[in-house]
Amino acid sequence: MSDQAQASVVQTRRDGEVLVVSINNPPVNALGHAVRAGLLAAVEQAEADAAVRAVLIVGEGKAFIAGADIREFGKPAMPPSLPEVLNRLEGSSKIVVAAIHGPALGGGLEVALSAHYRIALPAAKLGLPEVNLGLLPGAGGTQRAPRLMGAEAAADLMLTGKHLSAKAALAAGLVDKLVEAADATAAGLAYANELLAAGAAPRRTRDLEVADKAAALAALDTLAAETAKKSRGLFSPLKIVECVRAAVELPFDEGIAKERALFVECLNSPQRAGLIHAFFAERETAKIPEAKAAAPRHFAKIAVIGGGTMGAGITVSALDAGLTVTMVERDAESIARGQANVEKVYNGLIAKGRMTEEAKAAIMARYTPSISYDAIGDVDLVIEAVFEDLEVKKAVFKELDRVCKPGAVLATNTSYLDIDAIAAATARPQDVIGLHFFSPANIMKLLEIVVPAKVSPDVVTTAFELAKRMKKVPVRAGVCDGFIGNRILAVYKQAADYIMEDGASPYEIDAAVRGFGYPMGPFQVTDLAGGDIGWATRKRRAATRDPKARYVEVADRICERGWFGQKTGRGFYLYPQGARVGQPDPEVLAIVDAERAKKGVTPRQFTPDEIMRRYMAAMVNEGAKVLEEGIALRPLDIDVTFLSGYGFPRFRGGPMKWADMQGLDKVLADIREFAKEDALFWKPAPLLEKLVAEGRDFDSLNKAA
Ligand code: 3HC
Ligand code: NAI
Repeated sequence: MSDQAQASVVQTRRDGEVLVVSINNPPVNALGHAVRAGLLAAVEQAEADAAVRAVLIVGEGKAFIAGADIREFGKPAMPPSLPEVLNRLEGSSKIVVAAIHGPALGGGLEVALSAHYRIALPAAKLGLPEVNLGLLPGAGGTQRAPRLMGAEAAADLMLTGKHLSAKAALAAGLVDKLVEAADATAAGLAYANELLAAGAAPRRTRDLEVADKAAALAALDTLAAETAKKSRGLFSPLKIVECVRAAVELPFDEGIAKERALFVECLNSPQRAGLIHAFFAERETAKIPEAKAAAPRHFAKIAVIGGGTMGAGITVSALDAGLTVTMVERDAESIARGQANVEKVYNGLIAKGRMTEEAKAAIMARYTPSISYDAIGDVDLVIEAVFEDLEVKKAVFKELDRVCKPGAVLATNTSYLDIDAIAAATARPQDVIGLHFFSPANIMKLLEIVVPAKVSPDVVTTAFELAKRMKKVPVRAGVCDGFIGNRILAVYKQAADYIMEDGASPYEIDAAVRGFGYPMGPFQVTDLAGGDIGWATRKRRAATRDPKARYVEVADRICERGWFGQKTGRGFYLYPQGARVGQPDPEVLAIVDAERAKKGVTPRQFTPDEIMRRYMAAMVNEGAKVLEEGIALRPLDIDVTFLSGYGFPRFRGGPMKWADMQGLDKVLADIREFAKEDALFWKPAPLLEKLVAEGRDFDSLNKAA
């Protein structure tokens, strides 16, 4: 690195006896190589200059320092390392002050903890979120935070990855002072000069002892047991607890050595690669071709058509985003139910003490119920969430076309239907788009933004802006049956059905899928969502199903008995007395046996690994087809869809990242082997074959896009 690069990202200037060291590495002052080198040089400069008695560290822009430069992980490390820089900083003979005005996260907080004194401005956010990236704080954070705030609180900060406000950080002992100021440099200078005037000496965190060691160790025992249970295969949380234990038990330098060893283990784990892929992928999905071409349309007032499960959830999401919402339903009874569905969400928060009646009233003041379309002539955006029936939806869109003002965005929440056909029911297809929310819509992060042929670019950017306002994770999708998520889901669900008919029980399949890291298996999900939904879809598709395609009837047999899952007390599982966790049902196993006998299948054994190879191969192969058809822009859009909407284990990065990490040649070889049993279902995606032939991976397509 050139001295010039170093000089530009870390600038120093003298202000009286204080050396002001300001970090200017947009967008978030990440601690890349140049910043680390610059910081080290600044400390040396202060040491060498007798006129300097204090060092003040500040960050330019919105952040103090957001942490290590995540893009450098997985590449060869370049000295100086952050722990080395921070040991030097802490060891400085001049007093070191950090003035935190924005995010001080991960390595950024570790910089501050190595300073001798810390002040926070009101917008400061302090946290050690490394766990979210499969890591642990690796620059002394695991040793210094417990010394400042106590072992239990520090472990909690690191295990949850939460951000503390300036006030909370002060209460926790992470900062010395909260200053109601707007300018960190001025506030920091005032504090540094105050300290100098008072004759303050360097105060090194390393010299402190963790408070109340016996109690801390007992708390860590409990925490380790809880963490082992909760972390579901995640690697770094238990290592974090181990490091905090070292902070209590070992001298500082030994603790630091332990932290380094465990940090490197985390860094080399595939979970780190998966989680960091997820971090960047979620930020990439908003980068769409339309963004350059068109600014979003203005919206403040919206309408939601339908107040059922989805309509109510979408309404809550919109109200929470500060929008004004008119809900339209068919009749007085339905609108009363719709409003009750909305209020139920807020009443739940009030019951848990997370919302006041006044706050609810303030939100509901932006809500208007209606049974007439004439009430929505002035809205900027409409989201339709009525029954999943093309004719019903077309009728609704005809009405919208009649009443809505020109330029209003008209969106449908359909799960599967042809949005081009819905758009064609209006005289303004350029304004019609798909906004596919996931249930519960006020909680689930994913929003598939489905782009029909005739929609105008500014409607697409408006949809992305809405997602941002609602704090959703948007993914751009093309029109096809099921878009990205449900289309791929249908295929791997089919693979699960085949595995079941060939010999594994639904319970074995669910257990294998949970073992992979999903919170639930596919048959548990069916029971949760209601078996009747999939049944209706299967009936709808029966006429167009390829007669040569293998079709498993087990789920139909179950639905014919009225067993729709949790809501009816039984489905694939039994739910006695409204139990939430199902029990295996011998009668379901008998149905499966009968279906196997009918088809002449001799059941065979499947190991969890064999189950997952098939399940994942089906998912990846269909993902490749979705890409090839341009339904998804990039592999990472598929990854984010499954991470945010389908419970795919985040530490695996998403299905396409998983495939890359396995090796695409291995996945393709599996598909070719399975094709010997069923060539129609296991037809390799040409894109997958092409990538393997060229020795490329899916990630190469992320970069090319
Ligand atoms: N390294 C590299 N790039 C980063 C980064 C980091 N630590 N943090 C954010 N960025 C990038 C983002 O990718 C994004 O880039 P883009 O504009 O090209 O898409 C840009 O900075 C802005 O980020 P956001 O879109 O997330 O901006 P927000 O304003 O919404 O959020 C933030 C800012 C709260 C700082 C958020 O970016 C964040 O949480 N960052 C990650 C913090 C983190 O995990 N730090 C720990 C890193 S690991 C570590 O420090 C190890 C150490 O212990 C040794
Ligand atoms: P629901 O049956 O709970 O609600 C539909 C509501 O629409 C009912 O309250 C009904 O009274 C109302 N309605 C019907 N026709 C109407 C009309 N002409 N005008 C005004 N209101 C009318 O259905 P749900 O589950 O909310 O689904 C709605 C849509 O959302 C469907 O298109 C569905 O495919 C989609 N969807 C559903 C998901 C889910 O998990 N339930 C997930 C994602 C999308």
